[in-house]
Amino acid sequence: MSTLRTIDELGDVRGKRVLVRSDLNVPLADGVIGDDGRIRASVPTINELADQGARVIVCAHLGRPTVFFERASGTTQPETEFSLQPVAARLGELLGRDVRFATDTVGESAQATVDGLADGEVALLENLRFNAGETSKDDAERGAFADALAGLAELYVGDGFGAVHRKHASVYDVPQRLPHAAGGLVAAEVGVLKQLTENPARPYAVVLGGAKVSDKLGVIANLLGKVDRLLIGGGMAYTFLKAQGHEVGNSLLQEDQLDQVRGFIEEAAKRDVELVLPLDVLAATEFAADAPHEVVDATAIPADREGLDIGPRTRELFAGRLADARTVFWNGPMGVFEFDAFAGGTRAVAEALIASDAFTVVGGGDSAAAVRKLGLAEDGFSHISTGGGASLEYLEGKTLPGLAVLED
Ligand code: 3PG
Repeated sequence: MSTLRTIDELGDVRGKRVLVRSDLNVPLADGVIGDDGRIRASVPTINELADQGARVIVCAHLGRPTVFFERASGTTQPETEFSLQPVAARLGELLGRDVRFATDTVGESAQATVDGLADGEVALLENLRFNAGETSKDDAERGAFADALAGLAELYVGDGFGAVHRKHASVYDVPQRLPHAAGGLVAAEVGVLKQLTENPARPYAVVLGGAKVSDKLGVIANLLGKVDRLLIGGGMAYTFLKAQGHEVGNSLLQEDQLDQVRGFIEEAAKRDVELVLPLDVLAATEFAADAPHEVVDATAIPADREGLDIGPRTRELFAGRLADARTVFWNGPMGVFEFDAFAGGTRAVAEALIASDAFTVVGGGDSAAAVRKLGLAEDGFSHISTGGGASLEYLEGKTLPGLAVLED
């Protein structure tokens, strides 16, 4: 089986310009970083290279700025709310080194910044998605941007695990143009996902939540052949409840997924997978932090109410089904954890994982942010992934473009 190339295989990096693709896509509002988990996770590889005397050029994306403004206006004026500048400052603090910031991706500023780097110094390029070539579906357009990025460096290190499922220029095309390796973060994340997919210790339980069933179809289909228990909470649970014939009031519902979900319910029964759905929910009068709410049976949600969290009996049920599991993967909050009144279900699942002796993996995105927002100790979990979509696509069994190119 193919393995990822390691940084050691790049040889002596002293004095070499090394382009490091990190995932620095953090929540940012008015220039303030909401959760710096991904920046912290990116630090070891950058420091490892800088300590070895490399001239480190970090590149990353932030959010999903539309790229069409560039084409339409003919300018490359970036949308400032998506600038990586605030991230450069935080990265510098965490690295304990100055980070030089280039105000473009492959333009004059990038070139001058790279030219000015001494051995062991670090630069960060502006948001890659300010260039239409980064995300283009057109191979030539993506390739042209990849040529320019590759032209800044002599070596490439792929360490942006959260973006390896994207066939983007900096993830997929640049490593095909330079000697390349996987960074320590990508290697660690893949190691954990392998443990989940190749012979996991049993019982193996997966907890899925979050708003949309449609985001999780592939992973549910794949997991039904692999797990012993599948616990469903969060917004997506209401489509399961409806598929079982229950009314869900104003709760989040994906009508167009009902047939698919009925199929999952049948498949779970056929394969002897224990499908665990909510018994009760916190039903609120509206989607608001201070909305009046009460605990109701999941089978009796009033027509004018919406479920915003799993209820106390469900929390107990879920904790019970996780207590003796030996492997647990959790992706997606159980309720609207951003509102304190509806964070209890997510907290209960997180605490059940912390209390367990199982190999416990939190799958990126919102669930990782929830763990930190709720003030829970990160070392209470075996692993907190930096990749939401990337972890799910790996578990779906898909080939991830950004990993495939880093293999021998
Ligand atoms: C993420 O946030 O999951 C990664 O950074 C990838 O971002 P994207 O979904 O906008 O490609």
